[in-house]
Amino acid sequence: MSEHQNIRDQAKSLGELIAARQARLAIIGQGYVGLPLAVEFARAGFSVMGIDTDLDRVTALNLGRSCTPDLKDDDLIALIRDHRYEATTDFAALEDSDVVIICVPTPLRKSKDPDISYVVSAASEVAARFQAGRLVILESTTYPETTEDLLLPMFQARGARAGDNFFLAFSPERIDPGNPTFRVGDIPKIVGGVTPECTRLAAALYHHVVPRVREVSSPKVAELAKLYENVFRNVNIALANEFALMCRRLDVSAKEVIDAAATKPFGFMPFYPGPGIGGHCIPVDPLYLSWKLRINGYEPRFIALADEINRSMPDHVVDLTIEALNHRRRCLNGANVLVMGIAYKRGVGDTRESPALEIVKQLRDRGAEVTYADPHVPSIIVDGVALKAVELTDETLAATDCALILTDHAEFDYRRTAEIAPLVVDTRNATWGLAAPKGRIVRL
Ligand SMILES: NC(=O)c1ccc[n+]([C@@H]2O[C@H](COP(=O)([O-])OP(=O)(O)OC[C@H]3O[C@@H](n4cnc5c(N)ncnc54)[C@H](O)[C@@H]3O)[C@@H](O)[C@H]2O)c1
Repeated sequence: MSEHQNIRDQAKSLGELIAARQARLAIIGQGYVGLPLAVEFARAGFSVMGIDTDLDRVTALNLGRSCTPDLKDDDLIALIRDHRYEATTDFAALEDSDVVIICVPTPLRKSKDPDISYVVSAASEVAARFQAGRLVILESTTYPETTEDLLLPMFQARGARAGDNFFLAFSPERIDPGNPTFRVGDIPKIVGGVTPECTRLAAALYHHVVPRVREVSSPKVAELAKLYENVFRNVNIALANEFALMCRRLDVSAKEVIDAAATKPFGFMPFYPGPGIGGHCIPVDPLYLSWKLRINGYEPRFIALADEINRSMPDHVVDLTIEALNHRRRCLNGANVLVMGIAYKRGVGDTRESPALEIVKQLRDRGAEVTYADPHVPSIIVDGVALKAVELTDETLAATDCALILTDHAEFDYRRTAEIAPLVVDTRNATWGLAAPKGRIVRL
């Protein structure tokens, strides 16, 4: 058989399996990204194996217990019953897969350099079980050239020839956990393969579950597109945060100004200030790009400045709380502060990189008695001390010196908060429009 014929046959047979929804999928990493994706493919008729190193998570998933707000237990149970979805910790399950998608974490090291060890570990498991004709897609957010410089050689060492007996692509995940308007199946995918055949196959796969697939010329373009999206968000949030500091000095509400500016129907997109940025993406991903550029001899300035401003917001929130208490002739030392919301954003229980953790720590360090309410986060550990969530009731509100709103969860009753708490520091404008005596509500 000629080389050319071989390339066409490998791609054709996988292409046919994908077209007929008969390709068997393995999705490595069953968290906020991997699980909704697995479920979307399972709903589309594919047979999906979710692989995760966390035994507790795998056990829960096989019992039909979802670990993300984007999936109801009943929906998971239905897919398990139909034998469309199963979870395992056993990487031997890869041997039965035609397509492998990697959705493992890409955090930062303490040094703020990329920690790519989870991707390397997952990809090593796949490479160790190299099979001709398989498509591998990396979805984890990462620095440019990860797919071609790090992953590809791992497979080549096992005899893989990209676009021939093996297909490799990068396709960033853009899910916004807890967002009911845009779920994974509503968000267009970007796909960049190592060769045009790799791109074509990956795009054909995603066409089954998303409305639109944008094919780009290389994995590097796809990797950079994701980073640019999150740098855009990070920089604009930093601008809104710094704008809030300016507005405070000018004694005007940043929200009112931003809302007014947002009436312009073109060329403007509103971003609002907050207590700092959190989660697995916005504070982290820009630093992946900075790191890559730094080793290429360029220091990205916007990213550094935005990072500095965003990371200073918890200090500002603590200062605001001290100042607000001071106006009421109270000092922070010994004050009861009820923190409302620990998760980094509304509607989720994710506390990774949440600025609330830093704020609670600083308040405690300065002698405040801190309690917190968060319907999505039953307990936290701050500086080695375990805190348990309290219910947000009229009694807890009345007993506090200051209610500090850090996450605008829909479950909180902001009207009651404004009515009962003697002082409210609102970093999310959750109490916007609610009347209170002057000085009772302090907004960022
Ligand atoms: N969470 C988001 O909003 C979001 C959005 C878009 C992109 N991303 C990116 O997607 C990737 C995954 O993020 P996430 O939020 O789903 O993380 P997560 O922590 O929710 O889930 C990751 C899962 O991978 C598992 N895991 C870790 N190492 C593994 C390994 N070697 N083999 C198998 N499983 C392993 C963990 O046990 C965990 O269950 C990251 O690169 C992240 O930046 C996240």
